[in-house]
Amino acid sequence: MCGIVGIIGKEGVVGHLLEALRRLEYRGYDSAGIATLNDNRIERRRAEGKLSNLVKLLEKDPLPGSIGIGHTRWATHGVPNEVNAHPHATDKVAVVHNGIIENFQVLRDELVAAGYKLASETDTEVVAHLITKFLDDGLLPEEATTAALKQLEGAFALGIIFAGEYDLMIAARQGSPLAVGFGDGEMFIGSDAMALAPLSENITYLEEGDCAVITSAGVTVKDVEGQYVVRSVQETALSGALTGKAGYKHFMLKEIYEQPQVIGDTLHSFVNLSEKTITLPELPIDFNTVPKITIAACGTAYYAGLIAKYWFEKIARVSVEVDIASEFRYRELVMPKGGLAILISQSGETADTLAALRYCREQGQKILSIINVPESTIARESDAVLPTYAGPEIGVASTKAFTTQLTVLATLTIVLARARGAIEVERESELVEALIELPARVADVLNHDERLKELAVELAAAQDVLFLGRGTSYPIALEGALKLKEISYIHAEGYAAGEMKHGPIALIDDGVPVIVIAPFDSLMEKTFSNMQEVIARGGRVIFLTDEEGARRLGNYATHTIALPQVDPFVAPILHAIPVQLLAYHTAVIKNTDIDQPRNLAKSVTVE
Ligand code: F6R
Repeated sequence: MCGIVGIIGKEGVVGHLLEALRRLEYRGYDSAGIATLNDNRIERRRAEGKLSNLVKLLEKDPLPGSIGIGHTRWATHGVPNEVNAHPHATDKVAVVHNGIIENFQVLRDELVAAGYKLASETDTEVVAHLITKFLDDGLLPEEATTAALKQLEGAFALGIIFAGEYDLMIAARQGSPLAVGFGDGEMFIGSDAMALAPLSENITYLEEGDCAVITSAGVTVKDVEGQYVVRSVQETALSGALTGKAGYKHFMLKEIYEQPQVIGDTLHSFVNLSEKTITLPELPIDFNTVPKITIAACGTAYYAGLIAKYWFEKIARVSVEVDIASEFRYRELVMPKGGLAILISQSGETADTLAALRYCREQGQKILSIINVPESTIARESDAVLPTYAGPEIGVASTKAFTTQLTVLATLTIVLARARGAIEVERESELVEALIELPARVADVLNHDERLKELAVELAAAQDVLFLGRGTSYPIALEGALKLKEISYIHAEGYAAGEMKHGPIALIDDGVPVIVIAPFDSLMEKTFSNMQEVIARGGRVIFLTDEEGARRLGNYATHTIALPQVDPFVAPILHAIPVQLLAYHTAVIKNTDIDQPRNLAKSVTVE
């Protein structure tokens, strides 16, 4: 999963390419590169590491040219270094690619046997050489590209320029997203609309199998059958300005602190404050008769789905299956006719989640997605979308997207429960009330930040950390461990508290901090027993609970944080915040790259 961009401009394009790459850096930051045409020849600048390295290189060694392509890489085939950095080029063609060419080894062997010399370890370089081979055979650029595309297996979004062709760029899409932007005598391509936002307000999304021939005058698109098609042009609502850190040291911290606001924004679109009822947009789904709900998502979004399972089953009395999208897609699950599939994704571009969506569609399910980027592929392929109003999430570790996903899922729980006659009017009002109060309570939780910062000192000194929870606190334990791992690089595990005694308790000693998440609810006493088991074995417990939990059991733990007392229904949304802050402050102490942790990327558009 990489970011690609291309511009046919009127003058030097490098500045705009870099700005677009800056907006795509969330997709990967292992290396970056740009190719333009100069004196009819392809020229490249490429640098290992973050985009800032490429910027420095271009300052020393500028690159003129009115047509160019650019790339920011998340390495799949080949280590992150300059040789493997895109664009990959021959003397006739330069290519940027997002995706994976699965049959690259076969193609590579054939090209090498035919005398072509490949320099990198990447799958992408075969595309440049394959097109070159067809050009060498006498085909024109479009013909050569079409011939090459026919041989590619796997997923790709490609941007291609040709030596000597100042007014031609070819873009192709199969399995990876690609947008074409329209300017005044200028044309653009980009992995998403965000990349193109400062350059173009009018965007066309290519569809699966599309190949687009782009000149400064416009674009012609052929579909997978090679027939000319017209793809609709949409105005994008995205702002040209990339949000700044607003005085915070990191995007992640800013995004944690935005949660009262964005949870409020998300609620406002679904909650009628005066009537204290939830109204979702008109959905083409009959919740009353849905036989089963299947949820698929990845990473943090999957944990949101796990919490929804508890809510949907307990409150709306509907049968729910939830799975990690990368497992789900190959399980060949039997799905009931008329079932509902819910896909959860911040980016709306996660390859495994998209594949799960397509599987569910084949199985005749209605598709509902919960998405933060409304222009995304998953949103566009769904029957209905419930947006999260988190705003752009730039930090690679998901925070506000998670809590707004939970907010949407909580409103959906109430609507489902009402439609199925599973909830009393009084209880429904209590739940809505709890949601309405949520932004204020989340703001209260942020007041514990200083204390959490102190506790982070203890976590930063540890090699392993355990997070325990039961019920809806179990996915929060998983999320706490994920956050800590990904930004502080400390090994952490989340466990169902009751599962500890079946093995993991062997890990307990005084060097392993154990974070127990247990608000005062029907399960707290059970979790408390598990906490005692840890304490009895010398474990140091950080107890994340609420005021009532702290009053009853706070004395037993090494440290106790008493969060505001809320209805247990919304407690997981509240308890997500301290685990985010603990991870954040630990990572600050460890001096890691918090917004762009090593080996990761924000949007995972490969399997
Ligand atoms: C963790 C994180 C990832 C994402 C996952 C799914 O902090 O951000 O685990 O949640 O890659 O991404 P989306 O939600 O874009 O599908």
